[in-house]
Amino acid sequence: MLADLEIDPAALQLVDPAPPPASDRKPLPALLPGPVLVGQIGTGLDINAAARAYQARTNATLPPDGWALFFLKDSRSEGELARWRNAFWPWLHLVALYRIQAGAIERESMQGRSKLSGNCEKQGVLLALRRRDHVLSPAATIAKFDHNAPGWNGEPGKPGWKHHRWMRRYVGVFAGSSSPSRVAGRPLSILDFGCGAGWVGIEAALLAKDARLAAFDPSPEMVRLAGINARENGIERFDGRTGFGEDPPFCKTGDDRFDLVISSGVVSFSPDPGRWYDGLARCVKKGGTLVIGDIQRESRGMQRRRRTKVFLPAREMNAKTPGEARAALEKRGFTLVRQAGYQLTWPIPQAMHWSDQKLGGALAPLILLANKSLAGRLAPDRYDSWVLHLVSK
Ligand SMILES: C[S@@+](CC[C@H](N)C(=O)[O-])C[C@H]1O[C@@H](n2cnc3c(N)ncnc32)[C@H](O)[C@@H]1O
Repeated sequence: MLADLEIDPAALQLVDPAPPPASDRKPLPALLPGPVLVGQIGTGLDINAAARAYQARTNATLPPDGWALFFLKDSRSEGELARWRNAFWPWLHLVALYRIQAGAIERESMQGRSKLSGNCEKQGVLLALRRRDHVLSPAATIAKFDHNAPGWNGEPGKPGWKHHRWMRRYVGVFAGSSSPSRVAGRPLSILDFGCGAGWVGIEAALLAKDARLAAFDPSPEMVRLAGINARENGIERFDGRTGFGEDPPFCKTGDDRFDLVISSGVVSFSPDPGRWYDGLARCVKKGGTLVIGDIQRESRGMQRRRRTKVFLPAREMNAKTPGEARAALEKRGFTLVRQAGYQLTWPIPQAMHWSDQKLGGALAPLILLANKSLAGRLAPDRYDSWVLHLVSK
């Protein structure tokens, strides 16, 4: 297992799973910086309290890119493993685990399960976690989105294509005609903040007609696709750059702010939301429009996933509620105009999965119809995504 994680056994720090009794006044021996292994951890613990104690005990010695391993003795239910994962967040994020049973070792991660060679006489589950800041680091983000860019672009002709474009259009035109198409006789300037393949900004620019569209993303491959998509959709004025929301590659001076800034599905990836909101706010002109949307951490579906699923993308753990985003932006001089939820949390993801797996996507038009007709009409926790329209005071 250590070889699988590329950990040098000699560098591993072994940590006693039992916190020292209060009567023991002796200072704990200091650990050297390096990966840590805590174990063997028994059953029946207060999981949240245990996770806090392990953080206090090992945080100072765990390197920024180090592994933290926790060996849970005996077999554990999926629900208990999910509770450990939740208890370690936001200090650590669960990347992989190893189930050890009857001598055999099975590795499991977001990517699936595989058997490991070798055997182990112990029985239990080894959790392998890394710091949240490492998992959401700039280098990890660039690598992930460069690799996944074609998937985020959507696939024309596939059953999900219309749905993919509808979601982008919903956010792209959310401010609607309240943003004038020309400002003081010049074309509207639009910034797509974390543009991915560019579709949200493109929808906004198509609505405003003759707009000037700027866009940026950490992933060079995403920016390249956004440029192609903008050109193919007839947008002549397109300026694509690479960069992060925490230090946007536009709006470096006070006078180049935008009339309309849109950010869709981005803040949940930020390792530093405070700086990210500052960067976003800096790009909107006084009196200008801001549209921001993302996944809804407290939707019924996401709450259920956190209770029952062992592996979740870090982004889902890191997501914000619309209330949190609104409060962060009001603090930065914005006023809310309108908010809505879209993408029903139930039964849409389940129906989509079933339709794709069993029916070759045959239900896609029906699911899209349900989403379109119910968007913005129910309570926020009934949707997996939210969108806010604000103006800068
Ligand atoms: C879920 S995709 C959404 C893309 C696009 N806005 C859309 O709605 O189709 C998230 C995008 O955010 C970008 N991203 C991740 N972290 C970011 C950050 N800190 N600042 C700006 N963009 C970021 C990723 O590279 C990725 O392209």
